[in-house]
Amino acid sequence: MRLFVALSLPEAVREDLSILANGLPGARWVAPENMHLTLRFLGEIDGRDARDVDDALAAIRMPGFDLRIAGVGTFGEGRKLRALWAGVESNPTLTRLRDKVEQAIIRVGLPPESRKFKPHVSLARFKSNGGTPPQDKLYKYLADHALFKCAPFPVESFTLYSSFLSSNGAIYTPEAEYPLEPAVDSAAAP
Ligand code: 2AM
Repeated sequence: MRLFVALSLPEAVREDLSILANGLPGARWVAPENMHLTLRFLGEIDGRDARDVDDALAAIRMPGFDLRIAGVGTFGEGRKLRALWAGVESNPTLTRLRDKVEQAIIRVGLPPESRKFKPHVSLARFKSNGGTPPQDKLYKYLADHALFKCAPFPVESFTLYSSFLSSNGAIYTPEAEYPLEPAVDSAAAP
């Protein structure tokens, strides 16, 4: 099965993000129920490795934390524009969680991720041949939404999803959810 590890997003955050879904010709907008923040894409994994990944992820111990979605950006540019995304305010705890997920996956014996972690929530994808919006429209869109921010939300778990590619697009199914420990309240620390 095709698997990835991600943070699910509260409905209120997905609703805020769906407000961004207009005004870009050629954009294939991600449905709100499909929005998530990928920590690690695993790809096609056999059943035995999937069970080992599940065990390794379940052993991760970390406190929960708050996260805020903010800003917009793209992967690729010009006629090679691939995706539009919402970014994440700098968050070392999110990076630590991602590192723990990566270590867990390497311990299982799967190949390491070579690409740098760029936390994002994909909002739209584009087809390369002629499916990209005119440059001026894209620049205006990015400028109009540069200050976009959602309210911060508590991250209390992370999720192993399967992805099934159908003719109507990908269907993501939560296969397992891994709770984080209670958040450390820095304001309450002595
Ligand atoms: P994206 O949001 O940047 O497109 C499920 O497909 C998730 O895994 C998506 O969020 C997607 O990231 C990511 N993903 C899909 N294919 C990938 C690949 N080949 N490498 C890395 N991440 C991938």
